[in-house]
Amino acid sequence: MTTLTQLPDDYVQNPHAVHDMLRAEGPVQEVRMPRGLKVWLVTRHDEAKTALTAPEVSKNVVEGGHLMVLHSADPEQVRRFEPSFSANMLNLDPPDHTRLRKLVTKAFTARRVELLRPRVQEIAAELISQLNDGDEVDLLDVFAFPLPITVICELLGIPIDNRDDFREWSNQLLSFGTPEQVQAAGGAMAAFLLQHVTAIAEAEPNDTFFSALVHTEDAGDRLTTEELVSMAFLLLVAGHETTVNLIGNAVLSLLRNPDQLQILKDRPELIPASTEEFLRLEGPVNIATFRYTKEPLDLGGVKVPAGEILMVSLVAANRDPQRYENPDQLDVTRSAQGHVAFGHGIHFCLGAPLARLEFDVAMTQLLARFPNLTLAAEPETLVWRDSTLIRGLHTLPVRLA
Ligand code: HEM
Repeated sequence: MTTLTQLPDDYVQNPHAVHDMLRAEGPVQEVRMPRGLKVWLVTRHDEAKTALTAPEVSKNVVEGGHLMVLHSADPEQVRRFEPSFSANMLNLDPPDHTRLRKLVTKAFTARRVELLRPRVQEIAAELISQLNDGDEVDLLDVFAFPLPITVICELLGIPIDNRDDFREWSNQLLSFGTPEQVQAAGGAMAAFLLQHVTAIAEAEPNDTFFSALVHTEDAGDRLTTEELVSMAFLLLVAGHETTVNLIGNAVLSLLRNPDQLQILKDRPELIPASTEEFLRLEGPVNIATFRYTKEPLDLGGVKVPAGEILMVSLVAANRDPQRYENPDQLDVTRSAQGHVAFGHGIHFCLGAPLARLEFDVAMTQLLARFPNLTLAAEPETLVWRDSTLIRGLHTLPVRLA
């Protein structure tokens, strides 16, 4: 017999306390999310990995009858999410998942992504050059957001003038907007991307990543227009929403832990390896995307029946005291290997090498130019975004120095 736990209304403001409570009780519980959706929530590290790879679990939202790409934890929105985004790899099981992922894997290997380093450095330097000592700014707005969105827009061949529209649409899609707002944002983004894919398909092929994807056949296989729209949507949203908040959450963690900030200032060569600790401590994806059980599943002795929504909190798993010592403490010198901030199994983040590269470049340049930056707000006044998927702040006010 399990009891249904209601997650508190302010869950997104302090998920860690709720996770600690749930994790202490068991590896997985039946919970009601703040907006009413009933799900099974996994909070322990071992069971998170099991849930992310179990053959009893499916991500096929279309077959599962849930036309939803990225969960909003609102039952109303489960039905209303923009259907033209659903044909993407994150919503499919093998063999469909394998086929879609194979077409883009090569472009995102660590070796290929490393070739982007000079351009990423240039974009970061350009953004930093517009900032001055003494400025009080929202770091997300002036730096953490424009860096990854510029990179992903360039990869997709999308004009950068549209980036504020994307931020707005994507914000609506991943947060608890009203169903009408979510639908309107989804519709606007779908229309824009359809137009973009059509324009690239009609243009002469060139050797940019997205043009190649639109025009190339891989062993006789080719993406349909619907698949291309859905792929562009996934890359665009996954490619910036996460990295923005990895940078933002890391800067906040450092400003709250001056001893750790000092270590990175003294030894910037530690920044690339410390990425894993920032991903572990406050990764930008709280609850992984939507899954459901096709068959009954045993998770650490708890039986999850078939046909249930299964959610895995990556943030909770990464702070499991069974897996990491002093899990709530930032330690930039620890080995945080084994964290699940990028997921686990076949849906492991395709963009992980790019995210790591962007984070390395961003933190290296930021700390070199503004080593004495400080928080320009009381920590208690910072507000987290109203999303169970994305763990990130609304704004991060800092004073540059
Ligand atoms: C999948 C996290 C950056 C593209 C995922 C998943 C996670 C994740 C947790 C798996 C979700 C699940 O299984 O439910 C992150 C984090 C990032 C990041 C923490 C940055 C810090 C990126 C970037 C890109 C990207 C920069 C694109 C260029 C993707 C794609 C998938 C994915 C395409 C789906 C993979 C599949 O279904 O096989 N990411 N991501 N991500 N991510 Fe990322």
